Amino acid sequence: MENIYVNDEANSVKFQPDTDIAGNNKAKCNYLRCAAVSLGLLCVVLLAAIIGVCVYYNNVTNADGAINKGTRLQIYFKIGWFRFQSSLYLLSTVKKSWEESRKDCIGKGADLVVVNSLEEQKFIHGLKEAFWIGLHDQVTRGSWEWVDGTPLTKLYWGPGEPSNNGGVESCVERRLIFSKAEESWNDLSCDGELFFLCEKEVDP
Ligand code: BGC
Repeated sequence: MENIYVNDEANSVKFQPDTDIAGNNKAKCNYLRCAAVSLGLLCVVLLAAIIGVCVYYNNVTNADGAINKGTRLQIYFKIGWFRFQSSLYLLSTVKKSWEESRKDCIGKGADLVVVNSLEEQKFIHGLKEAFWIGLHDQVTRGSWEWVDGTPLTKLYWGPGEPSNNGGVESCVERRLIFSKAEESWNDLSCDGELFFLCEKEVDP
C-alpha cells in the first residue's frame, strides 16, 4: 500500500498506513491476534473445566465407581448419621416395636446398637432420649444377648432392672428417667413402640 501525504511533499505529514513492514494488513493482523488469544483463553477455560470435573469425580468415586470413604461419610452425616469412635449411629425419628426397629436398622445396612464399652454407653446415654438398644432375652428368659452375638461383659441396668414387669419384658431400652450413664437401661415389652438407635461400622 502506498504512503499518504497531505499538502505539498516538503511539509507533508506522513500517515502510517494500514500495513506493517512486511506489507501485511494491520487490521487483519489484529483480528488474527484476537482470534488466537480468544482461542487460547477458551482452551485454558476448557482445560480448567475438565480438570475440575475430573477432580470432583475422583473425589466422589474411586476406580471401581464406588463412593469414596470421605464422601460416603459426608453423605451419611447429611442424612442424620453421626459418628462416635469407629461407628456411625442413627437415632430414629419414628417410634417402632423392637422387632420393627431392628428391621429398620438392618434395612439401612446397620443393626440396633450394641454397647461394647463404658465410653460408648456414656455416649448413647448422652443422647437424652428413650430408645431401643440391641439387647434382648427373647430366646431364653433371663439370658440376655446382643443382636450381633457379642459376648455379654458389662451391662448398665438402671436401679431395680431388669424387672421383667408383668413377665413380658424381653427387650431393652435406654430409659430417659435414669440419669446415670452406668445405670441407664430398662427391660420393656418388645411390642412397645420407642425410638431406636441404629449402629454400623464406619468402614465395614
Ligand atoms: C418399671 C419398669 C418397667 C416399666 C414398664 C416401671 O414402673 O420400673 O421396670 O419396665 O414400668 O413396665
